[in-house]
Amino acid sequence: MLDTRFAGKDLNPVWLAPLAGITIPAVRKFYKALGAGLTHTEMISCAGLVHGSKKTFRMMETFGEAPPVVIQLFAGDTDTLLKGAELALKQDKWAAISINMACPMPKVLKKGAGASLLKNIEGAERMIKGLMVFQKPVWIKIRKISDNYSDTLAFIDRMISAGAVHVSLHGRTPKQKYEGYADKNVVFEAAKRFPGYISGSGDVFTVNDALDYLENGCVAVLLARGAMKDPFIVPSILQRLDYEIANRTLCDPSVKERIALFRTFAYNLREEAGENLALILIKRLVSGIFRGFNGVSTFRRNVGSAKKWDDFEAAIIDYSDHFERGQELW
Ligand SMILES: Cc1cc2nc3c(=O)[nH]c(=O)nc-3n(C[C@H](O)[C@H](O)[C@H](O)COP(=O)(O)O)c2cc1C
Repeated sequence: MLDTRFAGKDLNPVWLAPLAGITIPAVRKFYKALGAGLTHTEMISCAGLVHGSKKTFRMMETFGEAPPVVIQLFAGDTDTLLKGAELALKQDKWAAISINMACPMPKVLKKGAGASLLKNIEGAERMIKGLMVFQKPVWIKIRKISDNYSDTLAFIDRMISAGAVHVSLHGRTPKQKYEGYADKNVVFEAAKRFPGYISGSGDVFTVNDALDYLENGCVAVLLARGAMKDPFIVPSILQRLDYEIANRTLCDPSVKERIALFRTFAYNLREEAGENLALILIKRLVSGIFRGFNGVSTFRRNVGSAKKWDDFEAAIIDYSDHFERGQELW
């Protein structure tokens, strides 16, 4: 069983956050190959599982991803959550169940799920207590509740008393959505008050941002938009923390290595997720993977405008050819 108390020893503390529409298996495997200690699925609807939605069930595929993977579930009531969890746990591949108590999107809030649970402390508590029957570690992902830190700390206290063994805290309020700055201090306060329980999320765009969370008591740090903008931040953080990384050059790979990584990633994506979704995610990640290289703008533009797989392949071949011939890259 995954024990986050070992984070920093057996389990490295650089984790991939849950990202709806993004953290599908090929993406998770890509970040694990870069060194991420743990990954999360995107948020998965328990109502979708209960209604037998094929699309929702597909979100539980792992395509051979190495553990640990944490499944994130969302539901507006305990009954639906438990039924969904029962279906999810038929597959014995999850290190923990994380309940989403953070999503600020209206269609999720309307159902009483996501961040609306921050205002429904009894409901949130019932969910955690209900999940205890499965004897799996129960995690929660929450947000800062208000500028009065004691609101967030009191909520965490109740959730831990109910049985939650880990709390990922994003220092933006639900009202902020993804705007403005994340308040790291509320996370540091929580980490001080609940040692061993808190991972920090919010505005992790540099190695120092990640170190900030870890040096202020968090057992782990969640990489989200920062890892999309620059995937190589993952090995760079690990290197600063003195962790073994598969390959030192991963911190700043050459163009050739980036092409190889990107190609493998893209083909895995297509195989597992189909062409359309693969193209969407490739476009999201291409800038990050090739950031900072002179002369790649045409390549990025060609990938960005690819309408079908052939266009993407042509862009890659064109780029590799230019590179192999040692020519100016546009
Ligand atoms: C596109 C996107 C999708 C997200 N999906 C989820 C999700 O499914 N579950 C969740 O708990 N948080 C989700 N989040 C929040 C992130 O996990 C993270 O807490 C947040 O982005 C703050 O970190 P950052 O400022 O470093 O990006 C999402 C964020 C983004 C930008």
